[in-house]
Amino acid sequence: MKGKSILLGISGGIAAYKAAELVRCFVKAGASVQVVMTKNARQFITPLTLQTLSGQPVGSELFDEQAEARIGHIHAARTTDLMVLAPATANLIAKMAAGIADDYLTTIILATTAPLLVCPSMNVKMYEHPATQRNLATLRQLGYHVMEPESGYLACNEEGAGRLPGLPAIFETAERLLTAPSLRGKRILVSAGPTWEFFDPVRYLSNPSSGKMGFALAAAAARRSAQVTLVSGPTSLVPPRGVDLIPVTTTAEMQAAVDGLAARMDVIVMSAAVSDYRPVEVAPQKLKKTAGELHITLAKNPDILAGLGCSKPSGQILVGFAAETENLVENATEKLVKKNLDLIVANNLKQSGSGFGTDTNAVRVIDREGHATDLPCLPKMEVAELLWDRIERLLEDRAPHGTS
Ligand code: PMT
Repeated sequence: MKGKSILLGISGGIAAYKAAELVRCFVKAGASVQVVMTKNARQFITPLTLQTLSGQPVGSELFDEQAEARIGHIHAARTTDLMVLAPATANLIAKMAAGIADDYLTTIILATTAPLLVCPSMNVKMYEHPATQRNLATLRQLGYHVMEPESGYLACNEEGAGRLPGLPAIFETAERLLTAPSLRGKRILVSAGPTWEFFDPVRYLSNPSSGKMGFALAAAAARRSAQVTLVSGPTSLVPPRGVDLIPVTTTAEMQAAVDGLAARMDVIVMSAAVSDYRPVEVAPQKLKKTAGELHITLAKNPDILAGLGCSKPSGQILVGFAAETENLVENATEKLVKKNLDLIVANNLKQSGSGFGTDTNAVRVIDREGHATDLPCLPKMEVAELLWDRIERLLEDRAPHGTS
């Protein structure tokens, strides 16, 4: 979102107050936000609030002499990277479907060629009315991106569909619309999180992987319009939108899920921290505490990534991670070769802010030719973006000319 220009259109519904928080989210993410309100929206939230949060004057008058000196509505329509309409009332949606341009907001809507995200919010009966449904279908046909409203308790004391979509969902969709679809048509599998290996019904061996790195990779690929499947061990994270999540618990389950999909994938990134061992025996009941020591015999788990490397279809890009506490480059390079990978992401667990559970990661990316690129300690989402940039270059190199 950094450096992008977003025009937030607010129409007159009770959810207009939520637009203030949306402005904050966009500004915090580095976007420049211009707010345009309808006359009715000003009954629900003041322009001063939105001007303070966006740091820019709020537009609402079509015949504002100052703004129209440079034909303000056309200028606003041309300079925006994305228009977000939140809340979009039944009235605004109807006007858009009919192509009516009778105020500042609707003239910009008609004049812009930027992608346009419609976030409906209204009473459930108004939403379900055939006229509104017909209008929404028209907007979709016109190429606008229309979100589904949330269902629940509405301000008018009724239950049903009509609540403004959640702000995280609006934010994520806006981010996707602002991102070039550079992975469109690519099928991508990402693994994330830990695996759990039980030795009785309530105890298991595992590691502190939170899934943050893998979820960031999946979200970033989905934003680039890839078809993403995320096979994840147990985590407390909310799955990214637009990603097919396959939840698993044990290494055997992760292997079954990954192996079942691998052959049809263009790219596989294994960021999961897979347990290398599992208890040989799983007690059917909770083990009782005894005075002495408890000995558990461990059996080796299959190496999922090594198996993928053996059966890799031609053209597929296989990426592994290596979590290391010593000899980072040597150990990672050995895994790259042994597992027949195209790239390995060496994760230095000794560096602070890097590895398990953190919001940031510091990695070294090594390719088959031995070229290494150090990425500084960055938020996991930024690491994910840089990794996809690198993987996209590999895909381009592999594609026959003119097909990437
Ligand atoms: O989840 P987070 O809290 O965000 O933490 C991120 C992370 C530290 C888990 C991640 O960045 C990372 O380094 N993941 C790999 C951890 C790991 O298990 O590394 P490894 O060196 O043991 O395994 C090497 C590679 O083989 C990995 O791609 C792993 O997924 C794969 N593997 C390992 C063992 C096994 N039995 N099967 C596998 O497929």
